[in-house]
Amino acid sequence: MPKKEFPPKEALFPVPVVLVSSIGKVTPIPNIITIAWCGVVSSAPALLSISIRPSRYSHGLIKDAGDFVMNIPTVSMLKEVDICGTVCGRDVNKFDICSFTPRPAGKVSSPLIEECPVNIECKLKDVIPMGAHDMFIGEVLLIHADKSVLTPKDSIDYKKACPLVFNQGEYWSLGKRVGYYGFSAKT
Ligand SMILES: Cc1cc2nc3c(=O)[nH]c(=O)nc-3n(C[C@H](O)[C@H](O)[C@H](O)COP(=O)(O)O)c2cc1C
Repeated sequence: MPKKEFPPKEALFPVPVVLVSSIGKVTPIPNIITIAWCGVVSSAPALLSISIRPSRYSHGLIKDAGDFVMNIPTVSMLKEVDICGTVCGRDVNKFDICSFTPRPAGKVSSPLIEECPVNIECKLKDVIPMGAHDMFIGEVLLIHADKSVLTPKDSIDYKKACPLVFNQGEYWSLGKRVGYYGFSAKT
């Protein structure tokens, strides 16, 4: 069947949605930005990326502080996710309007969002200009997970965190499991 061709655009969907928390270096007021352009860069060292437009308030905060926390929100935080992605920290304190609790991190200056079940502390390794967005590479220093999202063997079970994905302007939740890594070699 013939395929329709499209001009270049950010065509990769769905993608995860995270809340990235940071804090001012001079005025230590915490902020949150919703990020969908994010991903895994390397497993060892564990490196994650978030892409941020220079116009965002968080862009300068994270660059100055040299760290950030990637927090995984649950489906129940959908409204807060949308708020943190549509209002600017220059105008409002998003921890206050979302009733989120900033909790001191273990290894970085940026605070965790206590209410998110998984929090990933990252040290800023690099900022790479990419065009509309700058790519911030963070090295994972410490991970926090609520007991409620742990397996019986104490590893993180991300489906228990009920994460959100962003799909062409819409928020979606996870569906059902359809396989597992390496299953094809076993059947
Ligand atoms: C679902 C969603 C995903 C977003 N992803 C990004 C992103 O990856 N990069 C970015 O720069 N802005 C992204 N935004 C927009 C910012 O979150 C938004 O401009 C926010 O108000 C910036 O906050 P700040 O100025 O306090 O940093 C996203 C918004 C939403 C709602």
